Amino acid sequence: MLMLVAILIGYLVGSVSFSYIIGKLWKGIDIRQHGSGNAGATNTLRVLGTVPGIIVLLLDGFKGALAVVIALYISNNDPITMIVAGIAAIIGHNWPIYLKFQGGKGVATTIGVVASLVFIPALLSALIAIVFLALTRYVSLASIIFTVLIPIFILLLDYPITYFVFTIIMAILVCVRHIENIKRLIKGTERKIGERTS
Ligand code: G3P
Repeated sequence: MLMLVAILIGYLVGSVSFSYIIGKLWKGIDIRQHGSGNAGATNTLRVLGTVPGIIVLLLDGFKGALAVVIALYISNNDPITMIVAGIAAIIGHNWPIYLKFQGGKGVATTIGVVASLVFIPALLSALIAIVFLALTRYVSLASIIFTVLIPIFILLLDYPITYFVFTIIMAILVCVRHIENIKRLIKGTERKIGERTS
């Protein structure tokens, strides 16, 4: 029962789409109708600029961590409840109840969730992903690399298998949401960071 409450709260917290809110506040636009059409930090940066992009990245990450912390209090520090609440927040971000289930790709929220649950694997994965981002300027590729590396570091660093299983689920969620990006990466038509559209 407590786990269900944590999942529900996680989903509702994750459903708060900061790119949508900032898009409305900053320029009165629905971010989903501009740029890549994605309700996320990358598209906010692309369409509205660096400052709103960073604000969305931080807030979308924060809500992932918040879902985990709320679950921590509700469950009295039960790791499984915290992990599933984090996944619920990512699902909420991707398919938000407040926006007719048309949300983002879950990367910033995943960062918030994994940073609060498995900090060292998250940090190592992020460092490698940042190198890829600097070399290629493809945020989508760096996002995929980041999430795929986390379960690998979890295995290498001997974390409990539960974390491995659930971070695999997170990586699958990110990859599924990036199918169109993957197709564009293969074709060579994926947008690079710094290319602005309106
Ligand atoms: O976090 C989303 C990013 O990986 C790709 O976003 O807008 O380029 O599809 P976008």
